[in-house]
Amino acid sequence: MTDEYQNRRTFAIISHPDAGKTTLTEKLLLASSAIRLAGEVKAKGERRRAHSDWMSIEQKRGISVTTSAMTFEFEGNVFNLLDTPGHEDFSEDTYRTLTAVDSAIMVVDAAKGIEPQTRKLFEVCRLRDIPIITFINKVDREGRDPFDLIEEISDQLALDVTPKVWPIGTGGRFRGCYDMEHNRVLLPAEDQALGFERSVDVSSPDDPKLNDLIGADIMDEVRGEMELAAEGYAPFDLQAFRDGTLTPVYFGSALRQFTVAELLRDVGRYAPPPGKQKARLAQNEETSVDPDAEFVSGFVFKVQANMDPNHRDRIAFVRMCSGKFQRKMKLKVTRTNKALAVANPIFFLAQDRQLVEEAVAGDIVGIPNHGALGVGDTLTERDGLQFLGLPDFAPEIIRRVRLDDPMKSKQMKRAMIALAEEGASQIFTPSLGSDFYVGVVGSLQLDVIRERLKAEYDVAASLEVCGYDAVRWLSGTESDIDAFVRLNRNAIAHDRYGSPVFLARSQWEAGYAEEKNPNVKFLKTRERV
Ligand code: G4P
Repeated sequence: MTDEYQNRRTFAIISHPDAGKTTLTEKLLLASSAIRLAGEVKAKGERRRAHSDWMSIEQKRGISVTTSAMTFEFEGNVFNLLDTPGHEDFSEDTYRTLTAVDSAIMVVDAAKGIEPQTRKLFEVCRLRDIPIITFINKVDREGRDPFDLIEEISDQLALDVTPKVWPIGTGGRFRGCYDMEHNRVLLPAEDQALGFERSVDVSSPDDPKLNDLIGADIMDEVRGEMELAAEGYAPFDLQAFRDGTLTPVYFGSALRQFTVAELLRDVGRYAPPPGKQKARLAQNEETSVDPDAEFVSGFVFKVQANMDPNHRDRIAFVRMCSGKFQRKMKLKVTRTNKALAVANPIFFLAQDRQLVEEAVAGDIVGIPNHGALGVGDTLTERDGLQFLGLPDFAPEIIRRVRLDDPMKSKQMKRAMIALAEEGASQIFTPSLGSDFYVGVVGSLQLDVIRERLKAEYDVAASLEVCGYDAVRWLSGTESDIDAFVRLNRNAIAHDRYGSPVFLARSQWEAGYAEEKNPNVKFLKTRERV
């Protein structure tokens, strides 16, 4: 048994595009000394882009499509940061990534407040009671009143809030931030070129030293605000935070590196270590896996292929849930019941990959494989164990795949299966005819598929509108499903695991079929087994 996992902090940053997630990621790495110079995260991203054409979509549209993991250490803790695509068309991917974290930082733009994507991602976190730390970014720019922003978070998200770090002026009057718990003022570095904040300890907000450091007029205003804030909001309560009902709030500037070290310090102090994970045993019995359990277990929340097209690699990202994993261990994939010798597992560091010798609950391990692992798979020493909560979502956009060069049909099928295994799209083979269909949740994924087919698999294909607008998995007794399938053969297809689905021309038609066939369940989500 190991309690090493106690110092793991596995978290994600959730935000609306442009709120500053990338900048904050970079500055967190800088604060932890995982990288030395600001700009390295981007520079690395650009080198990668140069390798892979499909990533040009990221550039063109200014969004981040890939989900990546990064491990770094700070003050005795090991942090595993999972990046989530901000664009709503990749929400499936994000949803699954959030099943692999124990806490999240929510980045809010001080000029904009809660935006639609922040809200959606927050709701996903709430479903799993993931504790949230709020970072209100860009206070160095003209923004909204701090009370206004806090009230919005409290009202719209129905959370208690505890201000932890307060801004001293905003926009043109921005002077720094004040750490209310430690009575410390965060000021611009004397050497601005370094961009680091420096902190000065004071006795309280009333310390006269602050007038000299900041200026009496601004300080007087801020004293009043902080007094109101301290009186008006709940004191910090660790349990309420870990239950997901209270969020500590940090005002800061990722770009100018204000409040970044404080944020990281408090993720270390407050964010929970790995907890229990819901799972199912062979006889369909529900259980939960304790990180203390001796058997090794983990699940795949993401598969990324061709990160380096020169090597045709395919990496499954596994969140470890229990036991002490050791390199070369043999683990069973529950879905296929096949053993997998994990010879070359890797940790993703900020600028490097490192061979994993040992890993514990909370760790994110990359496992190179040739198709043995798909999103949702459980890897374990315990027979029949399957982690829950990684569903497939019924696609809302369905296209017929039409090959430009019919000679390449085999290649195409292989490519489509590989893409589907990454979890961003699904493929369906109709009972009748030779076509096949691809289904996605967001339309941007169609562009990604087209570009990746060309760039990585050298296949040109068109994805044509086909008249179907909804997919439902069928569930029920074998005979009821068979009867429905016989009567509706031209609207039946199979997913890549061979399960039958109903293709409907509209959401309405799907609902109608459901009404007319009470013995069959029409499912919008499906847990993989
Ligand atoms: P994202 O990953 O959430 O989409 O956001 P990203 O970090 O790319 O930041 C979006 C824009 O906001 C960037 O400007 C970035 O420099 C800026 N930004 C981030 N944090 C702060 C901050 O604390 N203060 C200020 N003033 N700006 C901030 P950009 O012009 O779109 O890109 P770039 O050319 O600067 O890279």
